[in-house]
Amino acid sequence: MPHALNDIAQRLLAPGKGILAADESMGTCDKRFDKYGIQKTPEMRRQWRELLFSTPEIEKGLSGVILFDETIRQKTKDGVPFAKFLAARGILPGIKVDQKTEPLPDSFQEEVTKGLDGLSTRLSEYAKLGAKFTKWRAVIRIGDKLPTKQCLHENAKRMAEYAGESQIAGLVPIIEPEVLLHGTHSLLRSEKVLTETLSAVFQEIQKAKVALSGLILKSSMALPGNESGEKASAKQIAEATLHAFFSAVPSEVPGIVFLSGGQTPEEATVRLNEIVKMAKEQNAPWRITFSYSRALQDPVLKAWHGDEKNVQAAREIFKERVEETAKASEGRYTD
Ligand code: G3H
Repeated sequence: MPHALNDIAQRLLAPGKGILAADESMGTCDKRFDKYGIQKTPEMRRQWRELLFSTPEIEKGLSGVILFDETIRQKTKDGVPFAKFLAARGILPGIKVDQKTEPLPDSFQEEVTKGLDGLSTRLSEYAKLGAKFTKWRAVIRIGDKLPTKQCLHENAKRMAEYAGESQIAGLVPIIEPEVLLHGTHSLLRSEKVLTETLSAVFQEIQKAKVALSGLILKSSMALPGNESGEKASAKQIAEATLHAFFSAVPSEVPGIVFLSGGQTPEEATVRLNEIVKMAKEQNAPWRITFSYSRALQDPVLKAWHGDEKNVQAAREIFKERVEETAKASEGRYTD
């Protein structure tokens, strides 16, 4: 089993490729549609995903796509299930399996991710629907006294339990402890929280005997808070991020993919490029690439506006976004 899992992980981490996160819940997708007055219906969400998945040549830069429960059950207009459609293009379909968050006991400000109830049944259904990998996201907030040890521990424990179950189902887990960008914190503090978060996660992962070679880490970059007023260069961000990874991520983990977390597409691309270049110089043991949602999709959604006549132009933009980000994943991006 670890071999089969490692094989899927290696395919997801193929050189010059990354992962598209198209796993926004219906609510999140609708919020993004709202911005452009796009109708919030299952059919419009289906059309949006079809626009993305059928863009020519994206398989050159995408190894996988993460889907949401609604999307893995949807089909192209010609009646091909999305998971099958992507697989036929050489792109591995995956699925988000966490189910929102609940308040951390005794805390008003922190949350813990839900989704363990009935997980193994859902995993075997998703495997039958064609999924090859899964994703679980936890949210870590930086604040005056946050995150608490309890928040890090409880989220890490649940994440490790999920990862073990996913591996038993033959699906590669992507563990995503997202350290949020929101706040007034400095780059240094972000690096410290990222290190603590990843250490807590890998402690629980190892306790639960999850095979490190059969999982992928999805991480935030270390970044100054969006209300801090601190300006950090791509080089400083790369140094801080890699410092956290070298302190907390075991070398047996085959790869690390980034979320974009509210950075602009340009920031997410330039910074990824810098991190990858520096990781090579420092002989980092992991393959590093992207698993962006907003940084790949935002300009495309804006161009589409829910209007059939804009599909072609939107696809051009998506193709370009994938190409640029894929270049950055090899440290070859020039803006
Ligand atoms: O859960 C969040 C997605 O996996 C990544 O989304 O790139 O917009 O942060 P983002």
